Amino acid sequence: MLHCNENYLKLPGSYLFSTIAKKVSAFQAAHPDADIIRLGIGDVTRPLPAAVIEALHRAVDEQADAATFRGYAPDLGYAFLREAMAANDFQARGCDIAADEIFISDGAKSDSANIQEIFGQDCVIAVCDPVYPVYVDSNVMAGRTGDYDASTGIWSRVIYMPCTAENGFVPELPEQTPDILYLCYPNNPTGGAITKEALQRFVDYANEKGAVIIYDAAYEAYISDDAIPHSIYECAGAKNCAIELRSFSKNAGFTGLRLGATIIPHALKVRVQTDGSGREVELHSLWARRHGTKYNGAPYVVQRAGEACYSADGKAQIRGIIGEYMKNAAFLLDGLKKAGYTVYGGEHSPYVWLRTPDDMTSWEFFDILLERAQLVGTPGSGFGPHGEHYFRLTAFGSYENSVRAIERIRKL
Ligand SMILES: Cc1ncc(COP(=O)(O)O)c(C=O)c1O
Repeated sequence: MLHCNENYLKLPGSYLFSTIAKKVSAFQAAHPDADIIRLGIGDVTRPLPAAVIEALHRAVDEQADAATFRGYAPDLGYAFLREAMAANDFQARGCDIAADEIFISDGAKSDSANIQEIFGQDCVIAVCDPVYPVYVDSNVMAGRTGDYDASTGIWSRVIYMPCTAENGFVPELPEQTPDILYLCYPNNPTGGAITKEALQRFVDYANEKGAVIIYDAAYEAYISDDAIPHSIYECAGAKNCAIELRSFSKNAGFTGLRLGATIIPHALKVRVQTDGSGREVELHSLWARRHGTKYNGAPYVVQRAGEACYSADGKAQIRGIIGEYMKNAAFLLDGLKKAGYTVYGGEHSPYVWLRTPDDMTSWEFFDILLERAQLVGTPGSGFGPHGEHYFRLTAFGSYENSVRAIERIRKL
């Protein structure tokens, strides 16, 4: 008999940002004149870098001429973009990643949700707590997470790795061994960064246990200290155990344009369990098969725009944009501290993670900020149980709005 994928029915409530959007529109409807400042969702506000706009125009013109028109993109993405990424994002940092280990996509959200498809149904995942919700929800949809306990916000077949102020928002190695570990640094939502030594511990652990790390590096461009790794492949042995996700959203402002990449080294192999042969397969070949079957590639014009991010002008313009966001982050951090808040993040990340005052719950603080300051942030509990009593503000607004937000918080 026909039935739907009932795993979807297990998902608790609606997606965090839809809940926030509903609350904000209800407030706006009740207070039409309210001047709401939105520092909630992690969307950028600055226009695309000039080098990207020029590349887009050029590529659009190419599409108007039969001699330069491009149709379907190659399965893994255009070589010009994969080669630029391999050279700039990896080889320039001493990471031995080749262009053919890079799969171009429409962004890290879809890749981080889809990547679980290449793993067995019974694999156990470990996630940081708090966490970017997509990693868990996509595994819920795939039926891998067991049952949900609404009173604790915990799935029975998920290993949670608490990220707290005490551990500097970098978790301990899990006691129970997972098959797949999701790590994201610089981190959303805590804004925390990971040292090379700490990341190396995870790589060594994964290699020892035969686990795979899915490393989300969507915010690597915000790192401001050379000692902090931009890629997991800066760690020895990572090619044997790690998949990395990259995004053009937060560095170059592609949240609307859409472009990302997944890196799967050929060295990353998994033993076949069912045929008794003991042979190993490259995860690269599974993802290539999936890409070929389910995806027809990011648009040519967008891949050309991505390539422009690696030109000298593109790099300088991106540094400028990130510098502006980080000026906001520094202002938010400083202003909140002066207002008496305990604050984290904001140094290698566009996110500021603050402790709610008077032990308020995250949603209580959300309501107070919205009602009394007309300021929207993101409740930490929406990212997992250990996010309770925390709150996330983003540096992606304008400088003026960051200043106004702090003025309003001070008056609370
Ligand atoms: C940790 C993390 N990964 C991935 C994404 C999504 O990136 P993209 O715009 O490339 O889909 C986000 C967006 O907020 C994010 O915070």
